[in-house]
Amino acid sequence: MSRLSTLDMIAAKGQRKLSMLTAYDYPTARIVDECELDMILVGDSLAMVVLGHEDTLSVGMEEMIHHTKAVARGSKRCIVVSDMPFMSYQVSVQQAVENAGRLVKEGGAQAVKLEGGMAVLSQVQAIVQAGIPVQGHLGLTPQSAGQLGGFKVQGKSAQAGKQLMEDAQALARAGCFSLVLEAVPAPLAERVSQAIPIPTIGIGAGDGCDGQVLVLHDLVGLFDRFLPRFVKQYARLGQEMREAVSSYKQEVEAGTFPGAEHSFNMKQEEVEALDQLLQKS
Ligand code: KIV
Repeated sequence: MSRLSTLDMIAAKGQRKLSMLTAYDYPTARIVDECELDMILVGDSLAMVVLGHEDTLSVGMEEMIHHTKAVARGSKRCIVVSDMPFMSYQVSVQQAVENAGRLVKEGGAQAVKLEGGMAVLSQVQAIVQAGIPVQGHLGLTPQSAGQLGGFKVQGKSAQAGKQLMEDAQALARAGCFSLVLEAVPAPLAERVSQAIPIPTIGIGAGDGCDGQVLVLHDLVGLFDRFLPRFVKQYARLGQEMREAVSSYKQEVEAGTFPGAEHSFNMKQEEVEALDQLLQKS
């Protein structure tokens, strides 16, 4: 099975909707890949839903590479997009290209994602020039949630919407192959999707986008600290896991696990010989 390419994503615009989900390890990457989604995002949401941090800021390059490697090993078909963590691209263009290169070369990603518009345009251009596909990310950009006044819907006023449109057009011109729109009003996302030649991937941006992305742990009910309004929970794996773990504990305590079918036996004569040897010693 051959891997999809970022050119396939651009060609799909207007033809079919694109699907993307996060994954952070080998087993979940395999599931997403086997379900034939288009893209897997090794998001810096890793920090919150897997590593237990309060926000996405504390995850670094080494952790992103470590998890990207596991996802790359678990996927054959999906495009693996790896998030550039906070402060891995903001300081300088050179640092941005070097770190994007590490996610591809060491991590095995096919593309990188970074947050922001005009402010990171030279980084986007330089990474693209280095031959690495870039996915943009506008709207609610969690790495600058402090500046945005928290995890809030962005682009609600006409003026803010115009600014976001200009950022989106600039990112498309700079060479991004797709653009994540997070927590922006649906009418704005629809207009941006119509205005730019690359696919928009919405999360909390309505159905006018060219594709959708969600955090896997939200979708399957494994992260229950909070659930954003834009998440649809398709399963309650956290609850199922709690029930499984409680049943295991009860059976261990009651002595009903392990049963004979989970144990290994010895020939009777070997057991008897063993007992004799043990008596002698
Ligand atoms: O880190 C992440 O999971 C993301 C998605 C929310 C788009 O950036």
